[in-house]
Amino acid sequence: MIRDARVLRAGFVPSEVEHRDAEVNHLSTVLQPITDGEPADTAVVTGPSGVGKTCISKFVTERLREEVLDVESTYVNCWRNFTRYRTLYQILDDLGQTINIHRQSTPHDELVDRLQQYDGPRAVVILDEVDQLEDPNLIYDLHSLPQFALICIANREQDLFNSVDERLVSRLRASEHVRLERYHDPELYDILGARAKRGLDPDVISDDQLYRIADAAAGDARLAIGMLRSAASRADRESKDTITDSMLLDAAEDARTQIKQKSIDSLTPHQRLVYDIVREQGPLTPSDIYEQYSEQADDPRTARTCRTYLSKMEQYNLIEGDGTSRDRTYSVVDSTKTSDIFETG
Ligand SMILES: Nc1ncnc2c1ncn2[C@@H]1O[C@H](COP(=O)(O)OP(=O)(O)O)[C@@H](O)[C@H]1O
Ligand SMILES: [Mg+2]
Repeated sequence: MIRDARVLRAGFVPSEVEHRDAEVNHLSTVLQPITDGEPADTAVVTGPSGVGKTCISKFVTERLREEVLDVESTYVNCWRNFTRYRTLYQILDDLGQTINIHRQSTPHDELVDRLQQYDGPRAVVILDEVDQLEDPNLIYDLHSLPQFALICIANREQDLFNSVDERLVSRLRASEHVRLERYHDPELYDILGARAKRGLDPDVISDDQLYRIADAAAGDARLAIGMLRSAASRADRESKDTITDSMLLDAAEDARTQIKQKSIDSLTPHQRLVYDIVREQGPLTPSDIYEQYSEQADDPRTARTCRTYLSKMEQYNLIEGDGTSRDRTYSVVDSTKTSDIFETG
């Protein structure tokens, strides 16, 4: 049944990226100068969840490192490392520059100094989910250092620009943008097909079934691959040779639940509080949400920050907004809604 489980995992970076030639080439061109030891422009990569932002950024960086010896790279998920300190530490750690830095006691200025002094090979720094940094002006620290080529990944340009100060906005506006759109069904079908071919024994899943997964995933490659993984692991557990349609139906729900849980687990404590308020009391307007939140939180963040939380949770399908911008309300996404795509066959 399963030939290579790795290729079905969420974080797997494929050796071939499907249908993103233009975007891959664009990003490669931006980074190209560092292969000659020259400083490279900052790249901003945006798009909804599951469109390949992380995948192509890692892919392009890896390919660059195959081409030339003297390039380092580091990847930081800024959602997980949402303070400036943690992100700085993570970058230094990846570059092997944390000797004599003590996680608790070293002031963050010293981390910035270390980055400034870094004189190793030029390094690509991927800042993923960068709009989740509590203090995104860290981008400025890095942007101004010629040793580093930055790839900043966010869902929406606007969320990123709203959270940084003027001088950084103008720098970022001037940098190169790679915008990724949701996949069309035939593209998702190809992405799935490539994974199935490498990950599963032949004839485990039919083309028609792959196409239905693509259709159900609505442009989101993470969801599509999650459905395939879930169906395959069920068939494997039950020692079946093929994936049945009823397995697909369960897999669709299972993958959605898993992805949702993972997103909830990623929320920072402040975001989690906002999510719980929406879950328990929604639909609520942003100002009602903020009122509740600022009463309940220790050291509440600003109303503007609270709105960025709502936007992020909307991007990750945890909550949904209803109405126009003036009378907009938020409630949690009803995960009991399942697709009927698989039932009809
Ligand atoms: N063009 C593509 N070709 C092959 N696999 C892809 C492609 N785009 C996305 N994927 C896969 O889909 C999943 C989701 O992609 P990811 O880069 O994590 O999305 P994003 O960062 O935009 O949310 C990953 O497993 C990734 O490897
Ligand atoms: Mg990503």
